[in-house]
Amino acid sequence: MSDQTLHFPENFTWGAATSAYQIEGSVNEDGRGPSIWDTFCRQPGKVWQGQHGDIAADHYHRWQEDVELMAKMGLQAYRFSISWPRILPEGTGQVNQAGLDFYDRLVDTLLEKGIEPFVTLYHWDLPQALQDKRGWTRRETAEAFAEYARVVAARLGDRVTYWVTHNEPATAILEGHFTGEHAPGKKNPMDAAWAYRYLMASHGLAVPALREAAGRPIQVGIVLDLRPTHPASASQADQEAARRYDGLLNRMFLDPVLRGSVPADIKKMFGLLFRIKDEDLRTIAAPIDFLGINYYTRDVVRHDKSVPFVQASTIRPEGSAYSQMWEIYPEGIYEMLTRVWNEYQPAQIYITENGIPVPDVLEADGSVHDTRRVAYLRDHLAQVHRAIADGVPVRGYFAWSLLDNFEWAHGYQMRFGLVHVDYETQQRTVKDSGQWYAGVVAKNAVEM
Ligand code: FCB
Repeated sequence: MSDQTLHFPENFTWGAATSAYQIEGSVNEDGRGPSIWDTFCRQPGKVWQGQHGDIAADHYHRWQEDVELMAKMGLQAYRFSISWPRILPEGTGQVNQAGLDFYDRLVDTLLEKGIEPFVTLYHWDLPQALQDKRGWTRRETAEAFAEYARVVAARLGDRVTYWVTHNEPATAILEGHFTGEHAPGKKNPMDAAWAYRYLMASHGLAVPALREAAGRPIQVGIVLDLRPTHPASASQADQEAARRYDGLLNRMFLDPVLRGSVPADIKKMFGLLFRIKDEDLRTIAAPIDFLGINYYTRDVVRHDKSVPFVQASTIRPEGSAYSQMWEIYPEGIYEMLTRVWNEYQPAQIYITENGIPVPDVLEADGSVHDTRRVAYLRDHLAQVHRAIADGVPVRGYFAWSLLDNFEWAHGYQMRFGLVHVDYETQQRTVKDSGQWYAGVVAKNAVEM
């Protein structure tokens, strides 16, 4: 390792990210309605040890302490999501003012501390009332989403400048409706196809709704999870499989938003299934102000006839380093940043999530020496720096996550936080990584 200092551009934004269901808890408080994750967690075998977000990191009660922590770490921005069922308990119609009040106070307090709020509207917690009417598989849900966007922007749009419509549509659509690993737990290609159509359409409807309701210039984007897909071997079959996998994970979402089309090979792969209507494609492709990229890992892909449609599956390459969940592959963030820039030219890019689950230990002296997390963040930031040096307009970086939290189907087993949460006492402890990150923010630079 050389002792080099990588300086980031002036005005680069440093932040951390969370999402509502993963940290808030208080699922029955102040008029919140149930979400599909409340329901899903109750189904046996869906979430590790039957865990759920009823309490999570108790952020709904401890948000002031959490903002204080961010301020101490010097964070310049905070990406969080709004719980749709707190705002519209039935998904549409009656607005719950108490839900809006919560985020209103949060935004004011962030701004008082000089922390820029980045608001995500949908981080997977669809109101159960909408799921009861078939959720994302019907057009009315896309319209309800635009209504929800309008309600939130009318209240917060005078102070919130940065808006994200969806977090990782790929996950919501494919894991929610095709593999069934996420809420609502559907395992049906038809459901996935309809969810693709209407969830993507809902982005297109929400962008102008946000702009209108804010009534002033705002920055609107969408967050995609992107992964390089590398062939497991040099064989033609594996190379083609990797290309198909890339279509399914990456291009199927990049193309509608940034080109107004569905990739031809996707249409071919799924026949009539994965279609978006032309008029919807036009709204989906309306210019956005930034693209958010969540990056965690790459996929190494081989031809596999047993998998329907995509006929591809992933392998775990030997000799690589792994976190509790994924291969550690820092070059991939550079690869995706340069590729997206070369092929799609989004106006601006933010890394909206990047992080690693490691089994942290809280020492008796109250410290958490998460050296692997520090190394992961440092190595990925070096690759982000490299992309910026190559001319990619990366404007900011958000570590996932501010706090340890409910990691979906993995429950509380996976810890991603810069801040440790003791789930018995809800005590927060800044990990070594949090202290290290505070230094990065202060210096606007990463020491290698
Ligand atoms: C992303 C999600 C986020 C978190 C991380 C680990 O896919 O957006 O909520 O679960 O992965």
